[in-house]
Amino acid sequence: MKKTCFIALLCLAYNIISFAQNNNPILREDNIDEILNSMTTEEKVALLVGASGALVPDAAGYTHEIERLGIPMTVLADGPAGLRIRPTREDTDQTFYCTGFPTSTLLASSWDIALMEQVTQAMGNEVLEYGVDVLLAPGMNLHRNPLCGRNFEYYSEDPLLSGKMAAAYVRGIQSNGVGTSVKHFAANNQEINRLENDARVSNRALRELYLKNFEIAVKEGKPWTVMSSYNKLNGEYTQQSQGLLTTILRDEWGFNGIVMTDWGVKDNTVKAAKAGNDLMEPGRPVEEERLFAAINRGEINQEELDRNVRNILNYIVKTPHFRQYKFSNKPDLKAHAQVARKAAEESIVLLKNDNNTLPLKGNEKVALYGLNSVDFWGVGTGSGYVNTVHVANMQEAMTAAGFTLDENLAEYYRLYHGTQTTTEKMEGKNIDKRHREEPAITVQAIERQAAANDVAIIVLGRMAGEGADRVVPDDFELTAIEREMLQNISMNYHKVGKKVVVVLNIVGVIETASWKHLADAIVLPWTPGQEGAYAVTDVLRGKVNPSGKLPTTFPINYMGSPSSKNFPYTWDMTQGRRGNRKNVDYTDYEEGIWVGYRYFQTKNVEVSYPFGYGLSYTTFAYSKPSVKANADGITATITVKNTGKVAGREVVELYVAAPEGGFEKPAQELKAFVKSKLLAPGESETLTMKVSAYELASFNEKSASWETAAGEYKVLFGASSADIRATASFRMKKAQSWTVKMMW
Ligand code: BGC
Repeated sequence: MKKTCFIALLCLAYNIISFAQNNNPILREDNIDEILNSMTTEEKVALLVGASGALVPDAAGYTHEIERLGIPMTVLADGPAGLRIRPTREDTDQTFYCTGFPTSTLLASSWDIALMEQVTQAMGNEVLEYGVDVLLAPGMNLHRNPLCGRNFEYYSEDPLLSGKMAAAYVRGIQSNGVGTSVKHFAANNQEINRLENDARVSNRALRELYLKNFEIAVKEGKPWTVMSSYNKLNGEYTQQSQGLLTTILRDEWGFNGIVMTDWGVKDNTVKAAKAGNDLMEPGRPVEEERLFAAINRGEINQEELDRNVRNILNYIVKTPHFRQYKFSNKPDLKAHAQVARKAAEESIVLLKNDNNTLPLKGNEKVALYGLNSVDFWGVGTGSGYVNTVHVANMQEAMTAAGFTLDENLAEYYRLYHGTQTTTEKMEGKNIDKRHREEPAITVQAIERQAAANDVAIIVLGRMAGEGADRVVPDDFELTAIEREMLQNISMNYHKVGKKVVVVLNIVGVIETASWKHLADAIVLPWTPGQEGAYAVTDVLRGKVNPSGKLPTTFPINYMGSPSSKNFPYTWDMTQGRRGNRKNVDYTDYEEGIWVGYRYFQTKNVEVSYPFGYGLSYTTFAYSKPSVKANADGITATITVKNTGKVAGREVVELYVAAPEGGFEKPAQELKAFVKSKLLAPGESETLTMKVSAYELASFNEKSASWETAAGEYKVLFGASSADIRATASFRMKKAQSWTVKMMW
């Protein structure tokens, strides 16, 4: 306490003297060294620790202002489905709502890099116009396990799809002159004990999977900031890992922005600063005290201190607050709603469509079932939540599109929804709605409804968010009420020759294998943002031809996922001694690189819906491909032709089967992908994809190097990971390798 007062007095005295001499340099883009030389140790320390502020209510964090040097405060706010700030303020009637865009898993289902950039250009404009400097997004941990509570904030089980999508996200947001923070670096794949869990991961799995997507995002997106995660990685907190934050991130990948912690205080602030974690967020006085003391002891040397401060100053000069940008607080929410809708339209996945059940004609009488038909979820909870003006639901979207809803049924759900307590409504962080019950419907009612309507549409929902993982019973699996409802609807509608459609408004993968035969069609919009219900409706009525594909596998059952053996799905905090609870205190990533389709395809394990899968209302033919190879890599071309009756877009997925070169490799790995333009019936497009020799490499732990083996490579052109439409091959004459420093 005494020390803090002393420091404050020193600062004041220094400020007064400087002011009197009137010789303070003022921060400019080109005088960072001069500013560094003029800064007191106290000022430097202040810059390394987040500040509290009130510039933008409910923004997650701030950096310190140092007025005498013209260093402004900057504002950091969440991400990733849109900007999360408080929508109302006490001193004004004006509102500050933001657009709820589709969540990351749906955006990844678009497999459309250009679309991602368009969406995030709009999102980033809200960041700019609401006076925020950095959006704390994209979230880009891998879908290691279906139950991770934050999977909706992340893209995929595959690092290439995840990395490319994240890079596009970063470019789109940053095109507005605001920053991003790719998070949570790294191996933050479970929420249970997320602050302390030690992810024990092999070097190979890290390099090929859990770091690979970050590598792509950093190299191709150039984010202003990276957020280190809460968890440990192989025994060390990621925020304190020199190997991760300096050797790999900066020295190897060339990152030159700032690293900030995720939102909490750990004991060893000094180790974090030395490791290359520039900024402690949200920032506490104790962190300043620790840093100051360590500098005085010589434990943090001048070079280390200045390195971190320089990084922060380099960041600050890029920010809107530094530019004194006059933000309007009035982004064009109407225009952005259209962007959000379009994004959902281009991403929704059609999982099943027997006998052309869909599209509907558009004028049917519809019995719309499921609480989620009213309580439709646009985004997830926690820091991934967005305060939107409104989230359209399926009742209003279908009515607006001209369908006639069974009014009694609609009223039933509205009334039931109205009885939900307000605490169950998503109003901010960490409000968990998973245990909300679906109201039961009697068989007699279903029989009547089947007679009176043309089609049944059932909207099933799953919610999750930061701080908790999902569970298997009544969550990954259907609840007894849901199952019974599905069975009764299926039986009674099919009896009278009518169809049953299921819409999955879910934050993450669920079990589908045991019940999918009950539905004629299944549409997967995940959590598709505030306008998502309109997009789903347009898919149902054929105004939009679905072109999304799965970024993640739907396994037959939970234990069918290779990581499930080592995931806390039945966790019990009381078991074991502290520090020694499997899957709570530590998690062995025993499955290594065998995650998602890498496992299912290589080991020939049946799944419910494979990675990369998605149907269309039209069909596509793939031409004979061409692959040209040289020492730098390959260029592949293939022509797809719309052979059906309606216009549509096709995603072509390029997988490579590499020669073993001394160690086992997956049967196929995604190395490139491309989405066609909207092709009219009969129209074709020739698509080109490139893969560099480095991108073809696998990580050899023994030699600590990326290795592209010599020999014969197969190139598979798939409509999904399990539906290969054309193949080609090429030879790499000489092996190539890139040696790295081994960190663990
Ligand atoms: C989350 C981050 C988020 C931060 C600020 C943390 O609890 O893990 O994703 O950006 O809070 O809200």
